[in-house]
Amino acid sequence: MKLPTLLLSSLLATSIYAADQNASITPADIKMEGVSYIKKLGGTLKSELQEHMTVDPTAVAAFGFCTAKAMEITEEVNKALPDYAKVRRTALKTRNEKNIADATDIAVMESYITAIEAKTFTPQDIKVVEEGNTTRVYKPLVTNGVCLKCHGQNVSKEIQEMITVSYPKDQAMGFKAGDLRGVIVAEIKKTAEK
Ligand code: HEC
Repeated sequence: MKLPTLLLSSLLATSIYAADQNASITPADIKMEGVSYIKKLGGTLKSELQEHMTVDPTAVAAFGFCTAKAMEITEEVNKALPDYAKVRRTALKTRNEKNIADATDIAVMESYITAIEAKTFTPQDIKVVEEGNTTRVYKPLVTNGVCLKCHGQNVSKEIQEMITVSYPKDQAMGFKAGDLRGVIVAEIKKTAEK
């Protein structure tokens, strides 16, 4: 497999899973690999969001950025991953319907909400789910003050207008600080598909 030089060093550290299928790869290795892919997507989106929020604290520029680029960035990050891996965002209440959750996603998110309600939750609670040929690694996304500018109970008139225009079926509103907003999930296949 030919990889762009830029990515080679980071992938060397993480793609042990497919490179050595028969060796003793532990669940901890897979978890670590999944977390590294989650960080790639989460880190890129987070730094872009922060940059746009700094330039324009009304969140209007950042909203335009998320609408235009969040999916594109997700695709780019995925192109740079090994063929057997994929990473995406999902939520119980989605803004973009393309991010809709499946049954496994829903079960994991419900368990995070139960932990939040029971006050046993920590944002470091990474969940690993084995599903047939695939291992899924989940990281929870909890809302803070920044998120609420676009997902909260009192968004500005400008943001509300942008939501109405771009996401007529939006559900990702009305959150409070500390709520589960969604998850990032990495999916890692046990045998690399040819
Ligand atoms: C500037 C406005 C804005 C801010 C601030 C913002 N979001 Fe979003 N968020 C959006 C938009 C717009 C989308 C839909 C993007 C798309 O169409 O791909 C989105 C989508 C998402 C999704 C994907 C699932 C879905 O509903 O489609 C998650 C998860 C998410 N946001 C979490 C967060 C979290 C956590 C924060 C705070 C750290 C945050 N967002 C802050 C505007 C924002």
